[in-house]
Amino acid sequence: MLKIFKSATPEALQEIADEMRVRQTGHFILLFSLGSQFDHLIVQRLAKLGVFCVVADPSSVKAEDVQKAAPAGIILSGGPASVFNEPPPFDGAIFDLGIPTLGVCLGFQVWATHVGARVTPQAKREFGVHTFRISGNDSLFDGVAKMTQVLESHGDAIEPSPAFTILGSTDNAEVAAGRKGHLWGVQFHPEVTDTLEGAKIYENFVTRICHITDRFPAHDVAAHKIAKLKKQIKDKKVLIALSGGSDSSVVAYLLKAAHEGVSGKLKGVYIRGIDRPDDEAFVKKYFGSQNWIEVEIVDVTDRFLATLAGHTAMRDKRMAMRGVYKDVLEQKIKEFGADFIAQGTLYTDLRESGGGHDTGARIAEIKVHHNTQLDFSVPELSPLEDHVKDSARSIGRGIGVPEDLLVRHPFPGPGLLVRIEGEITAERLHVARAIDGIYIEELRAAGLYESVWQAGATLTRSRHTETKGDDAGEGDVVALWAVWSVNGFTARFAQLPWEFLDRVSRRITNEVREVGAVVYRVSDKPPATIEWG
Ligand code: XMP
Repeated sequence: MLKIFKSATPEALQEIADEMRVRQTGHFILLFSLGSQFDHLIVQRLAKLGVFCVVADPSSVKAEDVQKAAPAGIILSGGPASVFNEPPPFDGAIFDLGIPTLGVCLGFQVWATHVGARVTPQAKREFGVHTFRISGNDSLFDGVAKMTQVLESHGDAIEPSPAFTILGSTDNAEVAAGRKGHLWGVQFHPEVTDTLEGAKIYENFVTRICHITDRFPAHDVAAHKIAKLKKQIKDKKVLIALSGGSDSSVVAYLLKAAHEGVSGKLKGVYIRGIDRPDDEAFVKKYFGSQNWIEVEIVDVTDRFLATLAGHTAMRDKRMAMRGVYKDVLEQKIKEFGADFIAQGTLYTDLRESGGGHDTGARIAEIKVHHNTQLDFSVPELSPLEDHVKDSARSIGRGIGVPEDLLVRHPFPGPGLLVRIEGEITAERLHVARAIDGIYIEELRAAGLYESVWQAGATLTRSRHTETKGDDAGEGDVVALWAVWSVNGFTARFAQLPWEFLDRVSRRITNEVREVGAVVYRVSDKPPATIEWG
């Protein structure tokens, strides 16, 4: 079963609203998620502002429910649907309640259609960062520079119309922001870090437009997670899938605290086969000789190779890998007598796999992450599933996870298979490890490792004519990439120095016999994802 966060139904919404009125803090924002990849970032943005946010189910919550609950403001997120051929389920009468509403991307298109404007497919679509030029002096943009960078990710455009006022434009979209009375809309995403003044825009909406004055004190997230885990696991046994990266390490430390460091209760399993030597070394170094966790390294290289043989499409390879991953963990659950299985799954993983906040609208499956929907025989613990990379790292910082582990670049659970195009063979795995090793070693040597969020080397299926030592032949094409990001939901390609790329390229073509040429990827996310596959 795909992990879904239940959004509030009419009844639940009423209970929350009543509860808040009892506590005399009636001010909250109602968020209708229309399936956006970024919906949880809106929740986090509002939490940072100390504003309470209730995520409501757009398919069951109707205008009368909203009226009774009386939120101070409403936000409609974006989503993958299109208003003219796949309108998301949403009661348009909610727009007529007079409650301040902010529509983001698809959310803006939904209210624009409701007030009579036309939404049409755009000739020049907008994915990635653009310059937004503000017109007029609307309070939504108080204190925001007249020209500012925003992140867009949409293919439909709202046509100018007398039904609303245009508040700003970009080069490709005349209507990038608009307003009609109590309805505000932006085509870009203020919740992502690439929209430089997005935090200010949300702050303006909640304070200047919705007049929210109540602030909720930030609670200690780690203490809250540990208390919840303690209640769930008591003194029972937990098996954790360790990868050597930051997320599963943070979960291991949360479990250590929940078990109060008692030994014999926690076992970590590291699966070897499509990984890098570095990952295993980190697991051994930081968890291998601790008395609160027992670690087992399981080598399933042959099983991975046998299962992956013949698969060339990325999705097929991901699905095949998941089968082995689950089997190994199930076997170790039995051997250890575990009552729970824990993983470092983040909200990003859930949403990209098609899970996350419940919504009657479609949620895109961008890629199936290995750590979701596995339906284990014992209950699963994913304490970071409502967090993204940067907030998970800060939980780790608060509970003593070694910094060395926290600052490691993210590495995908399905390992090198998403960095190898075509069939996975022992030879190609060897090449993928060699190119990654050189690239990461050079990044560290140049002092660039920590200035980029993630970097990888992909072994493509392309072949390049080569001439090595007066001889002729064909070699593989390696694509290097590196990104700057905050949470992995969006990313910019990192502008690495040419001299650095030159050095890496020379080393790879000299030291790895199979490689004929090296290229560098210069696309952002969106439209590209961070990993090749
Ligand atoms: P993408 O490539 O979708 O990835 O932009 C965002 C971040 O997630 C990592 N990633 C994965 N992590 N299982 C994981 O645990 C996966 O299936 C998976 N796919 C991508 C990716 O490396 C990046 O940091």
